[in-house]
Order: sequence, then structure tokens, then C-alpha cells
Amino acid sequence: MQLECPSRFRWLEKQSVRESFAQDVALGLSQHPRRLPCRYFYDAQGSQLFEEICSLPEYYLTRAEHQILERYAAQIVGQAPAGLSMVELGSGSASKTRLLFSAYLQFHSRLCYVPIDISPSMLEESSQQLLADYAGLEILGVAAEYEPGLTALRRLPKGPKMILWLGSNVGNLHRTEASGFLTKVVSAMEETDFLLLGVDLRKDSQVLLRAYDDAQGVTARFNLNLLARINRELDANFQLDAFRHQVNYDEEAGRVEMYLSSQRVQKVQLRRLGLEIDWQAGERLHTENSYKYSPAELDRLVHSTGLRFLGRWSDDQGRFALTLLTRS
Ligand code: AVJ
Repeated sequence: MQLECPSRFRWLEKQSVRESFAQDVALGLSQHPRRLPCRYFYDAQGSQLFEEICSLPEYYLTRAEHQILERYAAQIVGQAPAGLSMVELGSGSASKTRLLFSAYLQFHSRLCYVPIDISPSMLEESSQQLLADYAGLEILGVAAEYEPGLTALRRLPKGPKMILWLGSNVGNLHRTEASGFLTKVVSAMEETDFLLLGVDLRKDSQVLLRAYDDAQGVTARFNLNLLARINRELDANFQLDAFRHQVNYDEEAGRVEMYLSSQRVQKVQLRRLGLEIDWQAGERLHTENSYKYSPAELDRLVHSTGLRFLGRWSDDQGRFALTLLTRS
């Protein structure tokens, strides 16, 4: 932790997150079926492409959640007392969070924002902008993965918290993992704390497939960037045009699956790993799951973790749900 700092930004925690990219790639590409953790999408270029995805006409998630926050931010933060710390898991560019800041700062003069993100540079950059825009804001940065980030919250000054987990990021976890992780979030909460959770809902498969396979091919580039990143960082020679972005919706499981499919028989060398991978024609690399929730599945998720609903909001078309939760 830093010593005294005159500005309104301090680190509560700054871990150098040693990502085991090389190790995970070696493991994931040697498995059958082959798969890679979706968190590796988000290098500088991947994060940029994700921002582009968020404004695509087909990618309704961001806009739906934004609409809910625009309408109900005052109601949501109206339940929170003075002296609040707003903790955000995976803060990224924090553009939706601004709606909550504005609403809270209409009723209170100060707000402490605690963004948890693995990228310290991203945190510092977005914090500068936020501090310039909100006079009442103070920021305690947590550069860490989610779980150590939650542990660092024990060192927050005493007071009420609202934890934000937006954007349906919970959808990357299998249902049982989602429940397990939320249980950890709950154990970082006091009786009177809040959790604001954004979840994408089950819907017509065509709408989902379009959202993850857009006409401009931005999601395809986002997916293929994973191979480009392996080329850059691990001295590999993936030919990007020899792989195709592929999306499937498993209706029963309620999840969108993304793959990269080899267009022909080929060999790829990963020189930094001393590894050569043989691909069959049509052989796939599984890169992401994005789970969707029915209202009943959302109930089950919430209740399985010792939480209860204080509020539940949706957009006009019922595509996305924002829920305000507390310990039951
Ligand atoms: C950031 C995990 C919520 O699953 O919708 C967007 C990521 N992948 N398009 C999602 C993503 C392809 C996104 N999450």
C-alpha cells in the first residue's frame, strides 16, 4: 500500500497479477476437446474490441443494462445510506457505473469507489477521468483478481458497501461455479451490504446467435484475437484466416458457446513453448461460454447463495435483468 497521497486516488491493493498465460495455453491446446480460459481475450487489443462489441447493434446486453440504470439508478442507490463504498468487480471502463455515481451524488456529497480489476494501468487511467468528472468521488483501487480482491475489502474503512457485478460477467461461469463464486462474494458482505448483479436472460436463439456473431465481424475478430495474442506473446504461427469464428447456442444448457474452428488440416508451432499442435479439418477450440438465465434460474442462483431480492428490474423488451440483493 502507498503512504500518504494527496490526491483522491489510492491503492487499497496492488498485486502484480502473474497471469499464467503460457502455462494455460500449453495445457488448453493439448487437451481434447481443446479449450482456453476466456479471461485471456482481454489484452489491450481484445479490450478495445470488446468496447466495440458493446456498441454493436446486435449486442443488446450493454444497451439493455444501460437503459435499466438510466431509469432506475435513483431507486437503486436510494436504498443505500450515506458513507457508501461502491465496489465494482471487473470495472473495465466503468461507463455504466457513472449513472450510479450521478444518482448517489445527488443525495450525498461523497462516495468512495473501489474498482477491482486485474489491469492496474486500466484502473489508473479510468480513475483519472472519473475523479475529474465527479467532485465528490474518492477512489481506492484494487488491482487484483476477483478473489484476492474480495479479501482486500476487509481492509476497507468500516461502513456500508454496495458490490457491483454488472454486464452479465457471471455468465462466463458454469451455473455451479457461479453459485460458488457468489457465495464468496456474500462472505465479503456485512448484513447491511448490497449486491447489484446484472444478468442476461434466456431468449430466442436467433437473437442470441446474432449478438455473438455480428454482421460486421467484430466478435469474430475479438475471438480470433486470442490466436493473434498467442502469436504475439508465445512466438506462435497461427494463420488467422485458417480458423473460423463459430457460435452455438445450447438451448438445454442455456448457454452461448464460442469456438475457433480449424478450416483445414494444419500444424501450428508455438516456439516459446516448444510445442507443435496438429489440427484436423473442422477441429475446434472452445473459447467461451456465456450462460443465460430464466427468471427461475436466477431465483435459484440467488437463493442458493444466501441472498434475497430487494429489487429486480428489466429493460423494455425483457432481455436483461438487474437485481439488487442483500444477505438473507
Ligand atoms: C463480458 C462475458 C459478458 O459473454 O456477453 C461478448 C463477453 N463475448 N461477445 C458476454 C463477450 C462475446 C461478454 N461478457
